[in-house]
Amino acid sequence: MNLSPDDISRLCLLVDELSGIQWDASKTYLIEARLVPLLATFGIANFGDLISKVRAGLDIKLRTAFIDAITTRETLFFRDDSPFQALEFKALPEIIDAKAATPFSRRLRFWSAACSSGQEPYSLAILLREMIEDIDRWDVQILATDLAPAALATASIGVYSEFEVSRGMSPKLREKYFRRTPEGWQVSEAIKKLVKFERRNLLEPFGALGPFDVVFCRNVAIYFDLETRKDLFDRLAKTLAPHGALFAGSSENLSCYGERWKPQFHCRATFYQPNKPATQAVATAAAKPVPPSSTAYRSSTPAVPTATAPSPAGPKPAVARSVTATTSLKTGLSSTPLVSSSAR
Ligand SMILES: C[S@@+](CC[C@H](N)C(=O)[O-])C[C@H]1O[C@@H](n2cnc3c(N)ncnc32)[C@H](O)[C@@H]1O
Repeated sequence: MNLSPDDISRLCLLVDELSGIQWDASKTYLIEARLVPLLATFGIANFGDLISKVRAGLDIKLRTAFIDAITTRETLFFRDDSPFQALEFKALPEIIDAKAATPFSRRLRFWSAACSSGQEPYSLAILLREMIEDIDRWDVQILATDLAPAALATASIGVYSEFEVSRGMSPKLREKYFRRTPEGWQVSEAIKKLVKFERRNLLEPFGALGPFDVVFCRNVAIYFDLETRKDLFDRLAKTLAPHGALFAGSSENLSCYGERWKPQFHCRATFYQPNKPATQAVATAAAKPVPPSSTAYRSSTPAVPTATAPSPAGPKPAVARSVTATTSLKTGLSSTPLVSSSAR
């Protein structure tokens, strides 16, 4: 079934309204490939009727299938590797140090915004478990959200095919945190219990979400127009604690948003800290503070030079940085996990 120019412009408008995702006539092939199967499944005669029915919102199954069809959910464990190293060797040790003297020294709040089928938040949970040996005595929560119900269904089941688990997950971590079942590789309870999945549209107000120590919002803003991207990152800044870190996708450079964001560099990765008024208190979330304990936090990181390399779109670094971070999670984990002295 061919799409008319009028169908295309009405569909693009609808997709934009529902998700912020930008489609245009140049994507006609993609639009047809994604939406023609819906016509057959739901017995809808043409694209005009599809648009009207989705817009009316009376058929929840159709609307859900439409959202699933328009979203691109490509993801993998430890995607791009270097952001996870930057988190492990720089951002997180600094965040934990910054919180050490506060009543929230053992509380960590992460948000994987646009988590797709769960590989990103589970990678974060694995990283945290590997870094913090006594994590069960910490108050840690990873909120994982996405617009697409199909993605969230897979994510909350947490079973991955051989192929999916082979993408980014080392055999060592797979053996440690997954169990082979007839359905596939089941992520362990120890990892699952750190992650809470919720359906959320990033276009909608975040309400009382936050403050987060770390937000991963990667490979979703690329689908939005410039204004929506800026608005999204502005709102994300408000969800971060003052010491917090935002990780965007490798092609999502926040330098164009000026003073709002302070880029931080680690090896090949860039993450961002919000430039906020100094008056903002550290992580005064509503949740109950975890009483400070005698646990001594030791940074796992040998000193890594900071802020010398700009983001990919920026000017070339004047001085090449020496890579002192130890082994990555993918290849076999940092040599020194963040182990409490009491746990030894
Ligand atoms: C390419 S995946 C990225 C997944 C993961 N962050 C990563 O980098 O591997 C993009 C995800 O964004 C989600 N998404 C698209 N528009 C969204 C919106 N308006 N609100 C929330 N999630 C959205 C899609 O459902 C999809 O799962």
